[in-house]
Amino acid sequence: MDSVLPALYILAAAGFILALKWMSSPATARRGVIAGEAGMLLAVIGTLLRYEVVNYQWILIAFFLGSAVGVPIAYLTPMTAVPQRTAISHAFGALAAALIGTAEYYRHTPHGFTMGALVLETLLGFLTFTASLMAFGKLQELLPTRPMTYRGQNIVNLSLFGLAVVIGVALVISPEQTWMFPIFMTLSLLFGILLIIPIGGADMPTVIALLNSYAGLSASAMGFVLDNNLLIIAGALDGSSGLILSIIMSRAMNRSFTNILFGAFGQLHASAAQATARPVHSATPEEAAEILDSARTVIVVPGYGMAVAQAQHKLRELFDALTRRGVDVKFAIHPVAGRMPGHMNVLLAEADVPYDKLFEMDEINSEFPMADVALIIGANDVVNPAAQTDKTSPIAGMPILEAYKARTVMVIKRSMSPGFAGIDNDLYYMDKTLMLFGDAKAVLTSIVKELGAVPRAVENGNGDRQLFHDVSTFTTRTAEKKV
Ligand code: TAP
Repeated sequence: MDSVLPALYILAAAGFILALKWMSSPATARRGVIAGEAGMLLAVIGTLLRYEVVNYQWILIAFFLGSAVGVPIAYLTPMTAVPQRTAISHAFGALAAALIGTAEYYRHTPHGFTMGALVLETLLGFLTFTASLMAFGKLQELLPTRPMTYRGQNIVNLSLFGLAVVIGVALVISPEQTWMFPIFMTLSLLFGILLIIPIGGADMPTVIALLNSYAGLSASAMGFVLDNNLLIIAGALDGSSGLILSIIMSRAMNRSFTNILFGAFGQLHASAAQATARPVHSATPEEAAEILDSARTVIVVPGYGMAVAQAQHKLRELFDALTRRGVDVKFAIHPVAGRMPGHMNVLLAEADVPYDKLFEMDEINSEFPMADVALIIGANDVVNPAAQTDKTSPIAGMPILEAYKARTVMVIKRSMSPGFAGIDNDLYYMDKTLMLFGDAKAVLTSIVKELGAVPRAVENGNGDRQLFHDVSTFTTRTAEKKV
């Protein structure tokens, strides 16, 4: 057994590392998930074979209870609710780590380095538990999503955290003073709640990635307490990947960490979103089909609305229809389009859109000026030129997909309502922009149907398609923005 366990743990660690590597590209993501699952299975088998397991009865009960709750959640959670599902998983993962630390403290009262690791484990575990529950509540709108702030809030929060750290250090110095532990525990739990109160719904997914990191670090510290190398490795991987993800997300939203944690962002800027009446050009699916048919290059920009409408399969049908007609169709993926990291990639992969047609923002932005049509499907903030032109905008400086540079812009959305940031989008009012009002799935269904009826666009002698271009002739209507 002595040699089997390290071998199983090394294989499990390799599975986790390969999982992270493969999951970073849609082409290998499925393989990555399987590698991660295999690693976890080996880790569990290895741990259950350890000689100190004295009683399998409780483990089996927990296994069946956990599966009875976990499996339905995995199948029933809609894709749009994955951020809050992730938050609740972190809450329980962190609670498990914190409770194991608490049990170890009362059973063995460790000293020195181990006690230091235990204090770190329980501090991060308990604060991540309450913070993740709060994040879940805000994302599920069980709690108010707007940031709640008051004067001196940061000082109160930092003092409370400081006090928890001081008591933690005192516990490391004299672990026998057991009366301090419940106070330490309560302060950690309380800090988790206070940490999330000033953070708005807009920043919550970034905060969840950060909480993922804390839960990982807590598990890593638990590895030191329990003398389990695999926990140390898995926790460190979890901790660092969560941190890297939150950095990528905050960059994509042009937000700094300190701003997210202390800045109370996420308040909808109501002043910027007052009702205005400005004319827009609107078109029918039939007209859209004609324009798409006569285009040579189309760049599709999917966003949150495509996810809500579950329009990915219809989009795939449109992709097939256009590709068959010789139109070059590409997909532009913004890192924070939708409501969770990789949201668009997951949906398009589900509809079997070829991976090599998906392009990240930096790769595709230079291609918009050459594109005949930018087809925006339920995306709003990620194509809002105000990010580049209006320094006072709440999204100023956020990198965007430069769809406004395409020759013709077509936007599928239901109304003139704003997106997540709650602000108007000048892109919709441009002369070259056509609005296709309606639910994304319904509009795409009509376009695909119309494309079947539209005769193939004629090519001129140079092999160029005649682009149906002058969108200013389309129906102009005055759009009242609903906020
Ligand atoms: P948004 O700016 O949120 O805009 C989505 C648009 O979809 C809305 O304007 C809405 O307009 C439309 N829509 C909703 N349901 C629809 C339906 N059934 N059919 C057609 N259209 C529909 O989306 P985005 O451009 O993807 O930007 C994402 C935003 O979320 C960014 O501000 C980002 O910072 C934020 N955010 C992202 C993440 C991650 S990690 N992805 C996390 C937190 C926050 P109508 O109501 O008029 O239809």
